[in-house]
Amino acid sequence: MLKEYFKDNLNSFQSKTEIQKLTFYPMMFQAARVMRITGILNETYINRHNGIDSEKIASKLNLPHYGVKVLLEVSLTIGLVFLKEEGKYCITKMGYLLLNDKATIVNLNFSHDICYKAMYHLEESIKKKKPIGLKEIGLDKYSTIYPGLSELPEPIKTSWFEFDHYYSDIAFPEALKIVFIDKPLHILDIGGNTGKWSMACCRYDKNVRMTIIDLPGQLDSAKENIEANNLQNRIFGKAGDVLSNNLKLPADFDTIWMSQFLDCFSEEQIVKILTNICNEMSVNTNVFILELFWDRQKDLAAAYCLHGISLYFSAVANGNSKMYHSKDFYKLIEQAGLKVVSDTDHVGEFHTLLKCKKVF
Ligand SMILES: C[S@@+](CC[C@H](N)C(=O)[O-])C[C@H]1O[C@@H](n2cnc3c(N)ncnc32)[C@H](O)[C@@H]1O
Repeated sequence: MLKEYFKDNLNSFQSKTEIQKLTFYPMMFQAARVMRITGILNETYINRHNGIDSEKIASKLNLPHYGVKVLLEVSLTIGLVFLKEEGKYCITKMGYLLLNDKATIVNLNFSHDICYKAMYHLEESIKKKKPIGLKEIGLDKYSTIYPGLSELPEPIKTSWFEFDHYYSDIAFPEALKIVFIDKPLHILDIGGNTGKWSMACCRYDKNVRMTIIDLPGQLDSAKENIEANNLQNRIFGKAGDVLSNNLKLPADFDTIWMSQFLDCFSEEQIVKILTNICNEMSVNTNVFILELFWDRQKDLAAAYCLHGISLYFSAVANGNSKMYHSKDFYKLIEQAGLKVVSDTDHVGEFHTLLKCKKVF
């Protein structure tokens, strides 16, 4: 656990600064985003050696000088730009990250396109334990975001999938090495989403067969990707809801894979899903769980992002899940009749890979 969480870190002066920053976070967030998408921030990068004034940027980008000046002045205080001399703006390291860093861009688009308007409903979502913010992305006919993933309008859809994939993609190469130590022949990829993991497994090992279990809409999208990659003879699909009482798992699997999946469910639901799986396991079955635990992160930036994602679960995704503390998660695994036999942190950068067995 990060040591910062065990103390009141800030002195009085820092506390006053930080709390005032917080009171304007939503506006500063939008200012930073607009700096990026209008090209103003890019101008401060192109002209980083001598700096550039607001008039030049306004005329080059054909934007009202008033707006450019407001955003540049505000960006001084956010920390996106600094002054080379009075009136001449130059990009900072933070500004450079906003312009070019993949994680920053993916997080920013996710926050803006999926979460920003929905967060207006956080209070009601928390009180009702329902994702009231779903209506802001057009999915209020569903009780969670998942049945509607394939129907999301653009740019919301692209932002959601780029966000999801950004994190799992980093972890997959290292996870493959661990999962294939026992030479699995048939892996169930539960919550397989677009089929990326299943396709990666087939490329990694020519002998493995995969079955993806996902909700019907998402499974159709996965099938398209699998056919486009000509892997339909090795990757099969089973449409189903893991929360239903009648979902039957295929008979002959030796490995179960769940990546960024169980965090989509409440504690009670996780125990139910794992118990159902446990009932179908033999002594040789391996269950691999790839998760992001906020207490296992190397730095505050990573833990901060995970806590932001918890709020997405509260107000948009389902109203009842979150990013978990690893100790809470261990308890759920044990309640379901499983035990963790190996625990690997920082797979990729942020994930923990748990290998579990049934307790007989
Ligand atoms: C966050 S995505 C994880 C995607 C992928 N495993 C990865 O690591 O990138 C969660 C997936 O679980 C699926 N899912 C959510 N609720 C489900 C349910 N009740 N039954 C089956 N699949 C579900 C979603 O459709 C989605 O594809």
